[in-house]
Amino acid sequence: VNLKALNTLGLESVARYFVRVESLVVLREALAFARERNLPVIPLGEGSNVVLSECLDALVLLIRLKGRVVVESQNDSVLLKVGAGEHWHSLVCWSLEQGFYGLENLALIPGCVGAAPVQNIGAYGVELKDRFVSLEAIDRQTGEIMTLSAEDCAFGYRDSVFKSRLLDQVVITSVTLRLSKTLMPELDYGALREKAEVLACERGQPTGMDICHAVCDIRREKLPDPKVIGNAGSFFKNPVVSDEHKAALKEKFAELPAYQVSDGWKLAAGWLIEQCGFKGCVKTDGAGVYEKQALVLVNHGNACGKAILKLAGEIQATVKERFSVNLEIEPRIY
Ligand code: FAD
Ligand code: EPU
Repeated sequence: VNLKALNTLGLESVARYFVRVESLVVLREALAFARERNLPVIPLGEGSNVVLSECLDALVLLIRLKGRVVVESQNDSVLLKVGAGEHWHSLVCWSLEQGFYGLENLALIPGCVGAAPVQNIGAYGVELKDRFVSLEAIDRQTGEIMTLSAEDCAFGYRDSVFKSRLLDQVVITSVTLRLSKTLMPELDYGALREKAEVLACERGQPTGMDICHAVCDIRREKLPDPKVIGNAGSFFKNPVVSDEHKAALKEKFAELPAYQVSDGWKLAAGWLIEQCGFKGCVKTDGAGVYEKQALVLVNHGNACGKAILKLAGEIQATVKERFSVNLEIEPRIY
């Protein structure tokens, strides 16, 4: 099966085996099939955080397990259990229509619900872990269902247990979130407050929907629409450096954007890459860097995974040489 339309970088990639998974029965059968043949398994949501190679000698599972259920309703909050194959942004819009708040800052992040815990998606001051209660996953070896708490998931910045101890061990089948019945606006990231207040001008205070629309507007200004130009969002994590390293860099580069975090200083990778002159570059093999956001690598049409990774390597080497900073690739490479 050709996966070009199933990954947002639009990379040509052919999977040896492919199953669309709409039920747990099919999921268990598919996992057993892969076990018998010793095949690697690749669960896929929307393919918005993967770099695929041209031939995948693997079983690709397109996870389309559906369902949104309010499992508990209290005075001020609800517990919502959502199938891994639900579309993330549709969930955000639907929850706001129900009067359930908490996901508005995470609007328009591409992908499915089941992938959200894998890198603990985050944007505009909110991360999945802030709304997360638990998830259900199926053990790839035994086929047994397990429930994992937030603590079990070991969430960090673009990180979770699914990138370490449970890497390639489970398929997430549902995610349970706690959402609030009262809006608690988080408007401290960048231009969000200003934008939300403009949208709310006649109503006074911004509603959840105003915040959602403001986030969507800001994202559309900065990030390329994968339907128009192939990309996987930020291609690198924002690096975290020590106090000393940050101080040394600031002495040489006074304008370097740096934010204090618990384990040091988070630097804006987009700024580092832009300083190295990559912003807007277009390579002959079709790989490039988005002209409005240097952290986003793009496919100008005919790039293959190797071309994207070659450019990524060039960027890593240049940033390392100039700033002594290691950039870690964010999407998963297959
Ligand atoms: P996929 O790309 O299909 O999969 C990603 C990884 O998760 C793979 O390793 C896959 O095997 C695994 N996986 C998927 N589903 C399951 C499952 N059910 N069980 C186990 N493993 C699974 N991310 C952010 O955090 N913040 C952003 O603001 C953001 N903006 C983006 C903007 C654009 C334009 C794009 C293209 C991407 C952006 N991303 C962002 C990255 C991406 O949207 C998220 O990582 C998203 O959660 C990926 O979802 P997906 O369904 O496409 O996952
Ligand atoms: N910047 C530049 N040049 C650029 C891009 C950015 O100088 O070309 C500097 C600017 O100073 C800007 C700062 O970087 O103020 C931060 O930029 P931006 O607000 O666009 O956010 P980001 O750090 O580049 C992160 C996430 C995004 C998320 C936004 C909003 C990571 C790796 N990326 O991007 O997530 O949407 O913040 O919260 O943490 C993703 O993970 O795929 C993703 C898109």
